[in-house]
Amino acid sequence: MAKLLMGKEVSARIKAELKTEVENLKKEGINPGLAVIIVGEDPASQVYVRNKERACEECGIYSEKYALPAETTQEELLKLIDELNNKSSISGILVQLPVPKHIDEKTIINAIAPNKDVDAFHPVNVGKIMVGNYDFVPCTPAGVMELIKESGIDVSGKECVIVGRSNIVGKPMAMLLLHENGTVTITHSRTKNLAEITRDADILVAAVGKPKFVTGDMVKEGAVVIDVGINRDEEGKLCGDVDFDQVKDKVGMITPVPGGVGPMTITMLMEQTYQAALRSLKG
Ligand code: GUN
Repeated sequence: MAKLLMGKEVSARIKAELKTEVENLKKEGINPGLAVIIVGEDPASQVYVRNKERACEECGIYSEKYALPAETTQEELLKLIDELNNKSSISGILVQLPVPKHIDEKTIINAIAPNKDVDAFHPVNVGKIMVGNYDFVPCTPAGVMELIKESGIDVSGKECVIVGRSNIVGKPMAMLLLHENGTVTITHSRTKNLAEITRDADILVAAVGKPKFVTGDMVKEGAVVIDVGINRDEEGKLCGDVDFDQVKDKVGMITPVPGGVGPMTITMLMEQTYQAALRSLKG
């Protein structure tokens, strides 16, 4: 049985440390604050937003939640973002994705002030990640890197294969692994001979959003498997993008779902909000 990389435990430790750091920052007169905007009633998004609010409470971070109706216009949303960009009690702004179809996601992301963009989705922050000189990192890839570090895995020279090329996970994940000197391959739905490529991976990151997509024949013995997926299987049970039962006795390390990458994502959001507030102190 593979060693389990327990994000739940690592994130509890990081949050406890962060709580102390937040307290110290408050003594200097800086109060980190996160604004979370959710438009519409997507049930998964509602759960994520609730978890983000709870994490803020745990870390002593002030939070404001804006739950807007699905009919909210793009102009109304842009107006709110503008207000939050200029609000000194807010260090970080997050618009939960996806937004309803009548709102253009790119326009919304572009409207968030880059120095409050705790998701690191704004093109300025994406560009900074690309050149390796960045303030914010998207929370899920940041959480994965933290888990890899905690496990004592040295990325340098390793074959790193990412399944999925989203702006939220796949692409930034590739950059972060590259900055650590990994040899990085990004695969996607048009990739030919996918299993051949994934079987070469020392570190395999599954971020496709398809339940149990990575099967036993797609992994190498002893590999490190990071499962970013959060899906429901045929029985409605929570599962990842990796078929855990098929790979668990073959690979060296694996993140379970739930309790693996998920808790790390939210913890990284807390860390980024703290860092944003800290930078405002330094000017
Ligand atoms: N929806 C799914 N993942 C994310 C995320 O990391 N940030 C935001 N804002 N929305 C999401």
